This record gives sequence, C-alpha cells and structure tokens, in this order.
Amino acid sequence: MQKGNISKYKPFQQIHLPDREWPNATLETAPIWASVDLRDGNQALAVPMTVEEKIEYFDLLVAIGFKEIEVGFPSASDTEFRFIRRLIEENRIPDDVTVQVLVQAREHLIRRTFESLEGSRQAIVHLYNSTSPLQRRITFNKSKEAIKAIAVEGAQLIRELKDSIPGTHIRLEYSPESFSDTEVDYALDVCRGVMEVWQPTVENKIILNLPATVEWATPNIHADQIEWFCRNLPDREKAIISLHTHNDRGTGIAATELGLLAGADRVEGTLFGNGERTGNLDIVTVALNLYTQGIDPGLDFSNLEDIRAVYERVTRMQVPERHPYSGDLVFTAFSGSHQDAIKKGMDLRKDKHAEDPQALWQVPYLPIDPQDIGRDYQAIIRINSQSGKGGVAYILATEYGLDLPKPMHPEVGQVVNDAADAASRELKPNEIHELFQQHYVNLEAPLQIHSVDRQETRPSGDVHIIADISLDGSKRRVEGQGNGPISAFVDALNQQKLKDFTLIDYRQHSIGSGSKTTAAAYIRIKLADGSTHNGCGIDSNIELAGLKALVSAFNRSRNL
Ligand code: KIV
Ligand code: ZN
Repeated sequence: MQKGNISKYKPFQQIHLPDREWPNATLETAPIWASVDLRDGNQALAVPMTVEEKIEYFDLLVAIGFKEIEVGFPSASDTEFRFIRRLIEENRIPDDVTVQVLVQAREHLIRRTFESLEGSRQAIVHLYNSTSPLQRRITFNKSKEAIKAIAVEGAQLIRELKDSIPGTHIRLEYSPESFSDTEVDYALDVCRGVMEVWQPTVENKIILNLPATVEWATPNIHADQIEWFCRNLPDREKAIISLHTHNDRGTGIAATELGLLAGADRVEGTLFGNGERTGNLDIVTVALNLYTQGIDPGLDFSNLEDIRAVYERVTRMQVPERHPYSGDLVFTAFSGSHQDAIKKGMDLRKDKHAEDPQALWQVPYLPIDPQDIGRDYQAIIRINSQSGKGGVAYILATEYGLDLPKPMHPEVGQVVNDAADAASRELKPNEIHELFQQHYVNLEAPLQIHSVDRQETRPSGDVHIIADISLDGSKRRVEGQGNGPISAFVDALNQQKLKDFTLIDYRQHSIGSGSKTTAAAYIRIKLADGSTHNGCGIDSNIELAGLKALVSAFNRSRNL
C-alpha cells in the first residue's frame, strides 16, 4: 500500500445537487422486488446451478413472493435457454409472476432471446450495454455517440421483435450498465434515446435500471445520482426507476436504502447477496430492514432457515455466521451484560405479549423477534467465559424449566463462568445443566436423608417428622416438630445441635406437566458469620423437594 500522499486513488466526483431532498425522505412502502439470483447470482458461482437446481430455486423465489424473476441470459448458453424453455413448456410460471431475461445490445443475441420466450404469458426483456468512461475507453474504445447508438439500435430491434411472439405480453427494461461511474447527464441521454424508441406510457412503463455495477463511492453519492436522474428525466411518470447495487465497498444495502429515499421504485437483488465479487444486494436484509420499521415487505421470510438451507445446497455458497438476520450467530449474545438485558426484555415481553399479542417488540439488542423469521430463542444466549448470571439463568429456565430465584443467579453464573474459563470454550446447555446439578441439586454429603415419616397433629395442623439420616456416613434417627415439614426438619437438626443457620428464603415451582411433573425447591440459608448458601431439591414429591433443597444448602455450607 502507498503511504502518506496516495497518488494511486482519488475521491469519487460529487454530484452537484445542493437542494437534494432524499435526506429528509422516509420509506413508507416496499419497492417492487426483482430477483436476479438465477442470472447475476448464478453467473457468479464457481459451479453454476444445474437446470434441476434452477427449477428448485425458481420455486423457492415464487414461494417467497417474488413477482419479477430474472431467469437468465437465454442467449448465453444452452443450459440457460433450456431452463427458460422448461419453465414455459412445463407451465411452471404462475400467472402473477413475470419472468425477466437479460440480453446484450447485439442482434443475434436479441433474436435468440425472443425465441426463448415463445409461449410465455408475460416477460420482461432486459437490454443492457455499458456506458461508463472507463468501459467506453478501455473495453470498447468507442465514443459516447457510438455507445449510445448501441443502446438505441438494440432498442429498435427489440421494438420490432416485441410483437413477434403472439400471446406474450412483453415489458421492457434498459440498464446503462456501470451507471454508478457514468456521467449522470450522459446516462440520462442514453436512457432518453432508448425511451424515444420504446415510447413507454403511464400504463406501460419502461423499467430504467440504474446499476451500481461496481460500487465506487459512498451511499450518499448513489442517492444523489438517483435523485438527480429522477428529477431530470422527462416523462418520469412513464418510467419505473430500478436499483441494482453491488457491494464492492460493503455498502450495497445502504446504497439501496438511500436510493429508495431518493425516489427509486424497484430493487433488483439476490437472496443473501450472492453475486459477482463481493456480491449483489441482499434482498433478504433490505426486506427485513423494512419489516423492522413496520413496513410489510411483501416477501415472506418466516422460514428463513429453510430458505437458507435450499440456497446453500444449490449454490454451494455459505451464509456467514454474522450475516444480518440469517447468520448462525446474529441472535446470539455471549456477553453477560447483553444477556442480562435480553433476559429482562424477554421476561417483560412474555407478560406483555400475554396481555396483548400485538404488543410492540421491544427487547434490547434484538431489533427483530427471531420467531418472526422462523428462528427460535434457543440460540439467543450462549455461554462462554464472557457470559453473565442472566445468561445462565436464562438457559436453565428456557431449556430445563428451572426458574432460579434471582439471588441465586450471580453465584450459579460464577460457577458456570469459571468452568467455561477453565475449559477455554463455550459451554453447551447440557453442560450448564450438569454443572448446576453437580453443585446445587440433591446434594448428599455430608448430610443425607434416607427416609422421612411425617404426621400431622390435630387440631393445630403442626407437622411431626421422624427421619433417618446420616451425617459423615454415620446413621441416626432424628425427630422434630414445626408448622410444616421444612420447619419440622430444621427443628430436628436443632435438637441434634446441627442447626447453625437461619432459613432466609424458600421457593418452589413445578417442572413439566401431567404425569411427568416434578417439583423444584430452592432454599437459601444464612450462617452466623453472615455467609449465605443456596441449595436446590428436585423430586416428584414437593415436600421431599423442599427437604432436599434444605439439605443441599446445608451441605454447601459445610463443603465450601
Ligand atoms: O451489475 C450490472 O450492471 C448488471 C447489469 C447487467 C444490469 O448486472
Ligand atoms: Zn449486476
């Protein structure tokens, strides 16, 4: 890399638009979506899709709700041509879906493209040629006039052929390829030349697709280019302005969103952003970004994991772990403070949602409810040495139904954290559960209860218990009385001079339902030195769960 004075690169030219309006605009509706997965996405694959895979992908796009789908470049290869023919001949295109085909402005390619469409109900023919100074000079070595002539001549041939396939309603799209680094006034001039040939109307609009074939500049410049174009285009109402961003600078999504603010009507892109180099625009992200602003995107991603599975299988690409909405880790919090906040948000949400299923989604760190896109809550909180008390409590509650009392959270969290630190890795829910059992549940040393006999004294209702216990391995029988089994057992320990604590907290809840219900009890005791100790008891008998919790707390106070 050069250092200091960088002579190899220069800033991208600004667009003169001092009264730009897009910064004050807001998005209120979803654009028209057009998938280019099967063309732009497919042509960027190391191993392009087979016809069978393309058919599966096409069905997926239809199921998501795309109404405009670019199915290929029929003049480019036999596979592309056969695929379109199969869609048409096997009647696979729903009535409300329009297939789109791409073609360069060259005579034999245009003729072949029209042949591929015979028998279709409706189609968009998408003509393109490259217009930027770089392409004009280096790739084509042609003047502005000559480049414009390529577009206009291509448009003329298409106009002639448009009515050559009876029964097919043809709509027309033109792309000044490399629009992003074409002079805006020249791009406009070429588009006007094409419009003059195609004579669009308000009822039968032309699609003018303005591609950021290569992303050269910041998204605000893209927005300026789009607003400038929309403002200067005569007969604006006869055109659908379409965006088609790539992601060379990593801002294809931002550029599209700002381009929509700047007045565009339509968006071309692919699922998960597959496409040349750093990819096309990821439509999933833009659509779900709209959704999280309260706008119905008109595309259904409620089973995003299944969509991703088909995508990964047929494209042989992988969605990265931190890819927005669809990556494995995007709903996962490892950090303790994030976990605490999420847990609080989710708890509050549970109560609010019970009262009002339409309640606004408000959970810290989660801009979308993972369940809306078919992802469950299990992966939200994962535990490593950076995790905190709330995360561990969340896992025990959601995965094992153990609703630990709040004062226990920091202590149990520390036990799990230390184990994760020692192992230098993430701990899975079953390992967290095991640690909890091992450290807190039904502990049997040094004190163990072997059997308990309980009687109620009438009319007081007091409980009298006789229990066989062992302490440090030596057995004895103990007796005690109290207003419940726990206080009776505490009395029994007292009579044996074993009570050196006060009981400060007792809670219980059931786990599961029906015949499989068990009870969990939690007890916290305090010793004379002020230290507190927690224990948990789990048993199918609620009273025994309580006694086991007490014994566990007692044993922890001895063992620490
Ligand atoms: O990126 C691009 O410019 C294209 C055109 C063919 C529309 O894919
Ligand atoms: Zn492209």
